[in-house]
Amino acid sequence: MHDPEHATPWTVPRAMNKASLYDDLARELDGLLSGETDAVANAANAAAAIYHALPSLNWAGFYFLRGEELVLGPFQGRPACVRILLGRGVCGTAALRRQPVLVPDVGAFPGHIACDTASRSELVVPLLAGDRLLGVLDLDSPEMGRFDTADQAGCARLAEIVVRHLGGAGSLS
Ligand code: SME
Repeated sequence: MHDPEHATPWTVPRAMNKASLYDDLARELDGLLSGETDAVANAANAAAAIYHALPSLNWAGFYFLRGEELVLGPFQGRPACVRILLGRGVCGTAALRRQPVLVPDVGAFPGHIACDTASRSELVVPLLAGDRLLGVLDLDSPEMGRFDTADQAGCARLAEIVVRHLGGAGSLS
């Protein structure tokens, strides 16, 4: 009998599990951040929850917009570069475009900023409060091609939840 627990990674059963993983994580994150309005506390708990819930990550965290650059926020993983100009690297590109950027192979992305040499693929989604850019959520994986469009949609949903719990659009600037 087919056992989805032992399916080959990244087959259909895994994709179905991925959708429910994001459903569960979205609910969990909303609950975790509800009742607290401190932006740093909520961003820190969000980074930890995401890092521990999603498989095969070596970095998960936030950069927040300060003027014309992104500045490192709460994260899990190895120490990272602190300031990224808009338009630079994967984070600065997602911030400038205000669109998610999915990079299956960081070596093939012109201008990728290597904070952790173990990173092979990356997904960055913008944090938007209406039309105002607050920063980005950045996920790195040591696995090539780790992220797909289901991750992009799931993480965009997580980013929306985080934005709702940052205590108002002005609290981080
Ligand atoms: N790789 C990112 C820099 C941030 S680290 O991955 C944490 C980029 O190219 O923008």
